Amino acid sequence: MTTLAELNQNCQVPGVKFVSGPGNFICVDIANESATARISTYGAHILSFIPAGERELLFMSRKSRFKEAEPIRGGVPVCWPWFGPAPVDGRPAHGFLRLAQWEVEAVLELSGGAVQVVLSLDSEEADLPMADFPFHAEMIFTVGSTLEITLAVRNCGDEAVETSGALHTYFSVGAVEKISIHGLDGVIYTDKVPNAPQVLGNVQRGDIRFNGEVDWVYSDTADAVEIVDPEFGRTIRVEKSGSLSTVVWNPWIDKAKAMADFGDDEYHQMVCVEAANALEDSRLLLPGVTQVLTQKISIR
Ligand code: BG6
Repeated sequence: MTTLAELNQNCQVPGVKFVSGPGNFICVDIANESATARISTYGAHILSFIPAGERELLFMSRKSRFKEAEPIRGGVPVCWPWFGPAPVDGRPAHGFLRLAQWEVEAVLELSGGAVQVVLSLDSEEADLPMADFPFHAEMIFTVGSTLEITLAVRNCGDEAVETSGALHTYFSVGAVEKISIHGLDGVIYTDKVPNAPQVLGNVQRGDIRFNGEVDWVYSDTADAVEIVDPEFGRTIRVEKSGSLSTVVWNPWIDKAKAMADFGDDEYHQMVCVEAANALEDSRLLLPGVTQVLTQKISIR
């Protein structure tokens, strides 16, 4: 692996520095006129994004472990090649990309001043015992006044593979009980909360509000979603492409207590809105084809 000193030597972009972050993970720190951000090469995981003059947009748990073979709790975990529980026993939930050490492919300054960081993971080069087929993945972070995150994965093998995944973004909110999520009115969802009544065709009526555990997969929707946060006095807009399912998740009280890497009271300060390829929106990735999933985050 390239050292910190080599990475800094090779990077000529002003305002970009490679540092040793939490858990000694190598991180890219970005500070430009529009925003500051931190991206960990472990997991290709963005930990922080603060547009100029604003508060932090991403939630990070104070109890997150920054340990290899464990996911980071907060920021934007990348889930792939499966979303949710593993299809094979003994494998981790949400796939293994968020548990892998990624390489720095490029750091660029774009013409408008935004900084782009490209991290890559190649199944032939990396030690990935769980990779059942050859692939080349890139995570592309564009940090300006908005944050754009793209996962692009090419199937380098000879056979088609079924994949699911998500950009599992944790947003920081003032008080989850007071926010509302706009943009999913009339959309059908699957309720994944344990013991939730399994009815055919849950339909979202109006905005989403929170007064209990939420683990809902909205189907057949490509629409933007807005998180209206009166406490922080802001609206976060979440746009996406390459995704026809949106996951909204908050663990609420009991699940928060059951999660060792999440503070008991932290459910109050976060909500996940995920650009997903989940359930019936799983994808068949043909040989030689690149699958692209993007989420774009801005404040209004
Ligand atoms: C959400 C799932 O996307 O991620 C939930 O819908 C899950 O069911 C949550 O609990 C967190 O997953 P993990 O593996 O990061 O604890």
